[in-house]
Formats: sequence, C-alpha cells, structure tokens
Amino acid sequence: GQGMFTYDPGFVSTAACESKITYIDGGKGVLLHGGYPIEQLANESDFLETCWLLWNGELPTAAEKEAFVEKITMHTMVHDQMASFFKGFRRDAHPMAILCGVVGALSAFYHDSLDITNEKHRNISAIRLIAKMPTLAAMAYKFSVGQPFVYPRNDLNYSENFLNMMFSTPCEDYQISPTLAKAMDKIFILHADHEQNASTSTVRLAGSTGTNPFAAIAAGISALWGPSHGGANEAVLDMLNEIGDESRIDEFVAKAKDKNDPFRLMGFGHRVYKNFDPRAKVMKQTADEVLGELGLDNDPLLKIAKRLEQIALEDEYFVEKKLYPNVDFYSGIILKAMGIPTSMFTVIFALGRTPGWIAHWNEMIADNSRIGRPRQLYTGPTQRDFTPLDKR
Ligand code: SDX
Repeated sequence: GQGMFTYDPGFVSTAACESKITYIDGGKGVLLHGGYPIEQLANESDFLETCWLLWNGELPTAAEKEAFVEKITMHTMVHDQMASFFKGFRRDAHPMAILCGVVGALSAFYHDSLDITNEKHRNISAIRLIAKMPTLAAMAYKFSVGQPFVYPRNDLNYSENFLNMMFSTPCEDYQISPTLAKAMDKIFILHADHEQNASTSTVRLAGSTGTNPFAAIAAGISALWGPSHGGANEAVLDMLNEIGDESRIDEFVAKAKDKNDPFRLMGFGHRVYKNFDPRAKVMKQTADEVLGELGLDNDPLLKIAKRLEQIALEDEYFVEKKLYPNVDFYSGIILKAMGIPTSMFTVIFALGRTPGWIAHWNEMIADNSRIGRPRQLYTGPTQRDFTPLDKR
C-alpha cells in the first residue's frame, strides 16, 4: 500500500491546502504525480496518460486510455466563430495576451460546462480545455505570422497535431519528425503540474469563488506569464542571446551575484527546490537528443547554457544559495531548436500546465472548499478622523 508522508508541525501551519495530486521534496529534488516519479512519467508515459493520472489519481487502463484519447480528439476543434476573435488583436500582440483573452472567452461559447457543481460539467470542461489549448495556441502563433489557421487532424496524436497546426501550411504538408513530437510530448509532461505554484494557486483561489473553469484557467494563464514564473523560459533565451558569447559569461555571473544589480540568472533558483529540479535533468537529456537529431549540438546558445550550468554547480555563491537550473533552463533551448519563437515559450508552458490547473481546480471543488480568503498583518495607520480639504 502507499505510505503516507509526514510533516513537522511548523510546516503544517504554513500549508495553504491539502492535495493528493503532486508531491515535491525540494531538498531531495523529488517530484511525484500520484506517487509516480516525474522521470519515469517523462520517459515511459505520454502526456494524455499523465493528464488522466492527474485527474483520476491512477494511470489509465488500456481501455480507459483509448476512450480518453478518443474523447480529447473529438474536442480539438474550437467554435469557428473564435477565429474572428483573433482578428481583433494587433498582429504583434504577444501570444500570451491572446491566450488570456481567448481562453476566458471560451466561457461565452460552452454553456453546457459552466455548472461547477455538476461533475459532468466539470469533466467536459476539463476535456475541452486539454483538447482545445493546442488549437488556440497554434492559432495565436499563425495569427502572429500572418499564416492561415490550420485545423486539428484526428489521425495525429496530441503532440504531432500541435506541431502540425503550428508549422503546416496549405502550400505543403509539414513533415512531422517523431523525435520532435516525442520531445514536445515530454515537454508537456514535464510542465504538467507542480503542486501549489503561483499560477495553480491563482486557479484555486479564482475557482474557489465559484467562477467557471475557463475564467479560472485564464487567471492562471495571467499569473504564469510573469518572468519569475512561466515567463522564465522566454527570459532564459533573452538572457543567453544578451550574453551572446562564452567570453561574456563571467560578466553576467558577476551581475547575478551583485545584490545591487537586479539582474538574476534566468532559469536558476526555485521557491521550493534547493536541489536539482528533477525536470531540468530530463529536459537536459531531451535537449541533447533534439539538438543531436537536428545537428545543432554545437549551437552557441547551448554551449553558453552548459557553461552557465557548470558555474552554477561549482561557484560558491550559487552552491551556498542552492541555485540549481530549473525546469525553464533547458526548455527554451529545445523549443528554439524546434523552430518555436520565444514569444510562444510561455504558451507552451501553459499547454503543459493545463491538466495540473484543472486537476487542482476539480480537487478543490470536489472537496467543497470554502472561498479562499488569505489573511494579512495590517501595518497601516491606526483609526483617525477625516481632515477637511481646507485643513490639509
Ligand atoms: C517556475 O513554484 C513553482 O513550482 C514554479 C515552477 C512550476 O513548475 O510552476 O517550478 C516554474 O516558475 C520555475 C522558476 C522560474 N523562474 C526563474 O528561473 C527566474 C529566475 N529565478 C528567480 O527569479 C528566483 O530564483 C525565483 C523567483 C525562482 C525564486 O525566488 P526566491 O525564492 O526569492 O529566490 P530563492 O529563495 O531561490 O533565492 C535565494 C537567494 C536570494 O538571495 P538572498 O536574498 O537570500 O541574498 O538567491 C538569490 C536571491 O536573491 N537568487 C538568485 C537567483 N534566484 C535567487 N540570484 C541570482 N540568480 C537567480 N536566478
């Protein structure tokens, strides 16, 4: 049977909630979903199996998996009227700005999945979100490059479908590389959930008011966008490009150590992990595989990244502060090698995190959690009388 984790009383008092979905041991660099280590899920499972695990707490049987994949496939198209929504944005709109808008707007299209007290509604809204996020994300990309939207295809698996919607054009079929599709699937798995991170806590707090799932997920997307959170993968590439050459690494490492300099090494450090982020290890292997397959192992940015990682693991400042590479450090390098623009990196993170967001949202609703209401320590002035304008 499954053992139970025990916590010291001090920690229990700081916990925001109870959850069965994901366990993290930041000191040991352990990440479990339903008890399964992330390394095993990334290397032996696939993204839709992991979605099922996060929602149900168990890996699916073959029959359950087949039915689930079929259901997701049947919901990958979005209402065609959504296309005109996209056309309201400027062409240079950040894809995350578009995603915030269109995901929230799903609540205006799917009235039969808004009653959160109805388990059937909760299930269909989860299916719709997992199925439609890749379609909406690819539409945001196609809109930004002025190419026509590509419809999902039922003969492709989840990650192949996303790559096809991203890169296929009416002029020629996109040749899907099984290695890239597998790498994309692994990246989705590695981002699938991470217990009470900022965006998941946002979804839980928004959802605790009884708002519909699409609005709650749109709130999570907004929180994820920040460079300290999901926006870090885009910030890593910007940082590597700014460093530009291995000869400038020491200059930036010195900036990162300088308390008066706001510069931080993007892709390093974590609120919880004070050891190697287990996801970063798998991401690093995937980066080597993908760049090897694409003949990019001498990519200058990858060489700068590997040198930075080596410094972070050896330099006393980073060792003492336990600043290890996190999930965002290598993901951007893989995505760039796959031809995905940096503006889409956080969108990819949002696609991967969608099943985690909705699993936590569903767990909170099913537990009949009360509305979230964080308390505060008030540090403002004590009560005083109003001062009329002519006395100020
Ligand atoms: C994600 O919560 C999650 O689970 C998030 C996530 C998920 O899956 O949802 O894992 C995804 O968001 C990963 C993190 C991505 N963000 C980045 O890579 C941005 C760069 N990292 C930093 O902004 C920072 O490390 C944070 C925001 C991630 C964590 O912030 P903390 O908790 O304030 O930093 P820390 O406790 O790790 O820092 C300890 C010390 C501090 O110095 P002191 O104030 O103690 O003197 O290390 C310093 C920090 O100033 N520090 C860094 C640094 N990160 C922290 N110094 C240089 N470079 C860095 N990257």
